[in-house]
Amino acid sequence: MSVKIPIYASLSSIGAYVPSRIVSNEDLSKIVETSDEWITKRTGIKERRFAEDNEATSDLATKAARIAIERAQIDISVIDAVVVATISPDFFCMPSTACVVANNLGIINKPAFDIAAACSGFIYLLSLAKSFIESQTYKNILIIGAEKISSILDMEDRSTCVLFGDGAGAAVIRATEDKSLSVLDVQCAANGQYQELLMTPGCGSRYPASAEILRERLQFIKMKGNETFKIAVKTLTKDVVEILQRNHLSKDEIDFFVPHQANLRIISAVGEALGFSSEKVALTVQKYGNTSAASIPMAINDLYESGKIKQGSKLLLDAFGGGLTWGSAILAFGGQ
Ligand code: UT7
Repeated sequence: MSVKIPIYASLSSIGAYVPSRIVSNEDLSKIVETSDEWITKRTGIKERRFAEDNEATSDLATKAARIAIERAQIDISVIDAVVVATISPDFFCMPSTACVVANNLGIINKPAFDIAAACSGFIYLLSLAKSFIESQTYKNILIIGAEKISSILDMEDRSTCVLFGDGAGAAVIRATEDKSLSVLDVQCAANGQYQELLMTPGCGSRYPASAEILRERLQFIKMKGNETFKIAVKTLTKDVVEILQRNHLSKDEIDFFVPHQANLRIISAVGEALGFSSEKVALTVQKYGNTSAASIPMAINDLYESGKIKQGSKLLLDAFGGGLTWGSAILAFGGQ
């Protein structure tokens, strides 16, 4: 009888890419009735990146993926699957952005597919990759959170267009026998009762594309910001407490708390409720805005590139987004 050695999933590398075009609060104040003061005070955002017209989500994703693959020091041929989390795919509805990215990278005859969990996308990706690896289905999975969210922003709606930005973050999740360098736990959840708080109502099967839908601008993101804000703070805090308790860990054993970067006020409220000092909280919202599924891997990449995390650093991830969806994860960074 053969005995299976336990295999764990390790986040073995991270990479990110942002478009070069910087859009400041001042720039937006020339398009909609807003101000640097309002945006800074209510969100903490100072600037964000917008992709060019000829750049699609897959272009950002491919660039982030190449960096992650190089840092993982693996040959592209060993990647068993490519999964992308996005709410701004290249095409509606096919091919998936993952198929485009896999083709760009020369990965063929391997599974490639997208998932839609909005801003919680990267946590959902981690959960999926962990299951695939621990069940010994695959050994190396490329996961990417990528958004050209500017393509679904209503530039006439000041309550949403100032909040979001474009970018991509990628990671290679590899099989390891070393539990101390693995994704220790992931929990994901959703509550569709709140679907109307944050949505793109038009151009799906509910309200198919038509001149009227476009006239009413229903193809763009709509958000009831204030209600979403309140649920976000409560849910994110509760979620972190639960995952720490479940793993018998205290916040002092966590090196960095990496929350979804939607709003500095949400990040500060959750960070303070949990008792994390500000140096332990990853912060990129001021320079990138809310990049939805890309926000957490971009924030991990920021910590990595600034030399703050090293192999074994313990990260606590926490995300919240449209659906409503949310999720958290605890991992020990497996990269070099
Ligand atoms: O990533 C997915 C999850 N997303 C989130 O978690 C986002 C959650 N929500 C938020 O971050 C905040 O609710 C916002 C930043 C979206 C809004 O902040 P708020 O403090 O909740 O403001 P509000 O929506 O209550 O609006 C306050 C006022 C309103 O004016 P009145 O009605 O008080 O006269 C808005 O019309 O601010 C006005 N306003 C603006 N003013 C200047 C809304 N957007 C703007 C703007 N510039 N861009």
